[in-house]
Amino acid sequence: MKGNIKELEKRKEAARLGGGEERIQKQHAKGKLTARERIDILIDEGTFEELDTLVEHRAVDFGMEEQKIPGDGVVTGYGKINGRLVYVFSQDFTVFGGSLSETHAEKICKVMDHAMQNGAPLIGLNDSGGARIQEGVVSLGGYAEVFKRNVLASGVVPQISLVMGPCAGGAVYSPAMTDFIFMVEDSSYMFVTGPDVVKTVTHEEVSAEELGGASTHSKKSGVADLTFENDTEALLMTREFMSFLPQNNREKPPVIENQDPMDREETSLDTLVPQDPAKPYDMKEVIHKLGDEGEFFEIQPNYAQNIVIGFIRLNGTTVGVVGNQPMVLAGCLDIDSSIKAARFVRFCDAFNVPLLTLVDVPGFMPGTSQEHGGIIKHGAKLLFAYAEATVPKVTLITRKAYGGAYDVMSSKHIRGDVNFAWPSAEIAVMGPKGAVEIIFRKDIGDEQKIQKRTEEYREKFANPFIAASRGFIDDVILPHRSREKLCRSFDMLKDKQQTNPWRKHDNIPL
Ligand code: HXC
Repeated sequence: MKGNIKELEKRKEAARLGGGEERIQKQHAKGKLTARERIDILIDEGTFEELDTLVEHRAVDFGMEEQKIPGDGVVTGYGKINGRLVYVFSQDFTVFGGSLSETHAEKICKVMDHAMQNGAPLIGLNDSGGARIQEGVVSLGGYAEVFKRNVLASGVVPQISLVMGPCAGGAVYSPAMTDFIFMVEDSSYMFVTGPDVVKTVTHEEVSAEELGGASTHSKKSGVADLTFENDTEALLMTREFMSFLPQNNREKPPVIENQDPMDREETSLDTLVPQDPAKPYDMKEVIHKLGDEGEFFEIQPNYAQNIVIGFIRLNGTTVGVVGNQPMVLAGCLDIDSSIKAARFVRFCDAFNVPLLTLVDVPGFMPGTSQEHGGIIKHGAKLLFAYAEATVPKVTLITRKAYGGAYDVMSSKHIRGDVNFAWPSAEIAVMGPKGAVEIIFRKDIGDEQKIQKRTEEYREKFANPFIAASRGFIDDVILPHRSREKLCRSFDMLKDKQQTNPWRKHDNIPL
């Protein structure tokens, strides 16, 4: 017994030390924390319970039987974030570069199974050289086991990936199938093939950072949802992020009490929308002013900025917000913004997060690059996502809601529950100028006539009243009372029950 206790202590100490002091220092020199230091920041103090600390790999080739480190390059277990259960795996780059062996994969799969069975989120801290090269296909099998669980857990428990080092080759597909990817600037990268292979195949010279760094994925590809300056910031912000999410698909998001009165009036909203319909304003300002205590946790802030997505709270309850952004491309819907918003709407619907849609959209973006890029299919994703969503949906049209984009942006017709408009709303097939140039084409050239017709059209159609007279808009509200109206609506809808027809699964235009 005494001998065994000593042996246990020895093995646990070896696990704690991972790849050893020298490699830990190397990790720190790169500005990265170790796997365990990361867990210490992420998880509430004293709540982390490690599993499989003593697991060792089973490889024998290339002298591997001589190199065994308990834990085998990944720390797994469960603990609490703000008092709520989460499961975690944290890859240890100091042990064989955090590479994934058969047993390393088994450890990850074990916490994934627990997360699904016990209904709590899974957070993966990724820092790995990929498949354990010494193990070959066994490692690939391990990856596939993880992938399978990512798919089975999708829409069941929230899955969050933090990429905090290398993540390359097929390994990228595990984070890719999770709900959110957060990356750390300058120390993480994700790509399917690295710079060397790129050079051989396409003759392009590109650095790892440019090919798949945090900046690339948060601005160009849209793969990353958020980026952070360093490990600590990423982990602390993940803790905050988790406070918006429910534990699983059967629960509602947590209610966080706050002192912000539900009927707080925001008089500045009365003058926010400029008189000139061609002038932009910042939709984020609207979002901040509506949410509890001005808080807005934005997702993908640097990608497809013509649409804004993220979480606020109304009356303490999480609400997913989608808003057109007039400051960028006049708020037009294009391929990237449609995909960005559609995925967000589907996340919210899967996890019982009510949706607030703020509309100021002149339509879909015209042009060959959009048409050839498949805007038809990609725009349909957003329409599909809204129409199938059964969570409470409240829509507020602040200004333009033109054409197909009016229908898409959570209109009444696709099951918007409560649809509001400000008096500044213009709900029409298109803008007055474009409309007149089509229906009065013969008058083009006669500026006076066109001007008169445009005014006529604006008066008749560029308002919320025709839509309201049809009941497509439930009420035209004064901007300063928007917060109260929204809070009351979501409160009224909190027990909403709606189901879709039975099917194996739908066939969203991918
Ligand atoms: C085993 C690995 C490893 C791996 C790194 N190491 N990657 N051991 N399998 N995949 C070990 C190194 O031998 C080294 O051991 C230690 O980890 C740190 O690696 P360094 O190279 O010193 O670190 P660094 O300079 O920071 O470079 C990191 C790296 C590089 C860019 C990740 O290690 C690298 O290119 N590794 C190979 C990446 C790769 O090709 N992986 C397979 C991809 S295919 P010592 O003992 O010296 O500390 C793949 C398929 C997945 O992953 C498919 C899923 C379907």
